[in-house]
Formats: sequence, C-alpha cells, structure tokens
Amino acid sequence: MELQDQVVFITGGAGGLGRAMCHEFANQGARLIVGYRSNAAGAAALVGELGGDGHSAKEAPVEDSRRLTSLAGEIEAEYGRLDILINNAGITRFVAHNDLDGLDDELIDDIFRTNWRGAFACVRALRPLLGTGAGGLVINISSIAGVTAMGSNIAYCASKAAMNTMTMSLARALAPQIRVVSLSPGLAETDFVTGLDQAWWDEQSQRTPLQRLARPEDVAQAALAVATGLKFSNGCIIAVDGGRPLT
Ligand SMILES: NC(=O)c1ccc[n+]([C@@H]2O[C@H](COP(=O)([O-])OP(=O)(O)OC[C@H]3O[C@@H](n4cnc5c(N)ncnc54)[C@H](OP(=O)(O)O)[C@@H]3O)[C@@H](O)[C@H]2O)c1
Repeated sequence: MELQDQVVFITGGAGGLGRAMCHEFANQGARLIVGYRSNAAGAAALVGELGGDGHSAKEAPVEDSRRLTSLAGEIEAEYGRLDILINNAGITRFVAHNDLDGLDDELIDDIFRTNWRGAFACVRALRPLLGTGAGGLVINISSIAGVTAMGSNIAYCASKAAMNTMTMSLARALAPQIRVVSLSPGLAETDFVTGLDQAWWDEQSQRTPLQRLARPEDVAQAALAVATGLKFSNGCIIAVDGGRPLT
C-alpha cells in the first residue's frame, strides 16, 4: 500500500492502458479519478471494479481547457489534494507515412490538440494542486513513436516527440515541487491502433527482442515504479518497449 490515500487523476482512464493503470494504483491504496471524454459508462463501471475506495469518474475532455479548470476546482473541493497526474488520453489513425494527402490538416490538428495541447493543458490547470503536497508527479504517456519516428502516422510520431520535450521543459520549470516523466511504450495490446491485419501484428511482435507486444500491465507497472521507486528520476523518457528500437 505504497500510495495509501494519494489522489491520482488519469486522463482517458477507461481506455486500454488507462484501465490497467487505474487497477495498479488502486491496488496500492490510491484514490483514482478516472477521466473520460465519451466513455462515461465505461469510466463509471471501472470505478465500481477498482479495489479500495474514494474513486470517482469525471468528465475530462482534454481539449476543453475551461472544463479542466473547473475540474481542478472539483478535485480540490472533493479530495483537497492531487498527488499524481497521468496524461494518458491520446488519439491516432493509421496513415502510411508516404501517403501525405492522407494526413490532412484536420487529422493533424486533432492529434496535436489532444496528444500535446491536452496534456499541457492538464498540467497547467492542475499545477496549483500538484504543487501543494509532499511532491507532485506528472507521468506523460508518450510512445516509442516519439523516439523512433515509426508509428501510426507522421503527426502522431511528432506529437509524442513534442510530448517528450514538454516533459523535459516542465521537469526543469516545475522542480523541485513536481517531477515530470515520460513513459514510452511500444506497440501495446489495446484497441488504440485499428485497421491492420493479424500478419502485421505478428510481425511487430517478432521484431521485438522480447518476442511479444507490450501488455497494459507492463505499462501500469512501469507507471507505478515511477511513482514509488524511481523517486530521483525527472525529465526522462522511460522505455517500456521490449527493446523494439534495437532491431
Ligand atoms: N496502444 C498502444 O499501442 C500504445 C503504444 C504507445 C503509446 N500509447 C499511448 O497510450 C495512451 C493510451 O492508449 P490506449 O492504448 O489505452 O488507447 P485507447 O484504449 O484507445 O484509450 C484512449 C483513451 O483516450 C481517451 N481520449 C481520447 N481523446 C480524448 C480527449 N480529447 N479527452 C480526453 N480523453 C480522450 C479515450 O477516452 P474516451 O473513450 O472516453 O473517449 C480513451 O479512454 C495514448 O496516449 C497512446 O498514444 C499507446
């Protein structure tokens, strides 16, 4: 119970990786605030499944900065503190990197609005709460795509690379009160990337030195490690990818 009574807010908390992180942190005694954009029912159901108590589901569309400000007020009124923010919400769509017309302006703007601006806006809105406790923590769920430039489309890769530099900038700017760390998962077994056949998934698995894709639990355990064990890690990018960039 290393996180007893700590308050953790996860954006997109009812998604594939989000659910695993919610369970992992709740099992350590944390009180989870499960943020959702469209999946209110899934977030409410997850709150009922989590171990421990004090959990809640909150509407948190990360593109809506005004809503994030009001959410900060709700968290302060209900919990009186926020210890950990996990910027997990993200979107993508598969567009081959040589299909420049397929990556239209609307998709580029959607990806950056959610994956980069949304994460920054959450930190901006919640910084006053994160800075008041014994030591706040922001975990940005980035991607191997932000390091290798290989991923579902060029804008997605760029949004995660930009998230990684945001991690470094904020780690410098918010220290010593708040640590900021990127987790960089490889391809994971969730519904995030759609429209690709089984042969493609099998190939990704075979190209990974550990011979499998990331499981949501791998990412959740890495996030927990950042919160509980890696207390002197700040402004860094922690890979959770089975060594995929090596091949
Ligand atoms: N799966 C992978 O292979 C992989 C690999 C590396 C990194 N990642 C990163 O991991 C994160 C989670 O991915 P996942 O695999 O768990 O995907 P997922 O199952 O599709 O979940 C995505 C979550 O993001 C939320 N979301 C999307 N747009 C949002 C917005 N504007 N405001 C608030 N929430 C929003 C969704 O909420 P609603 O359902 O409520 O709309 C959903 O809960 C993403 O940032 C992704 O880039 C994934």
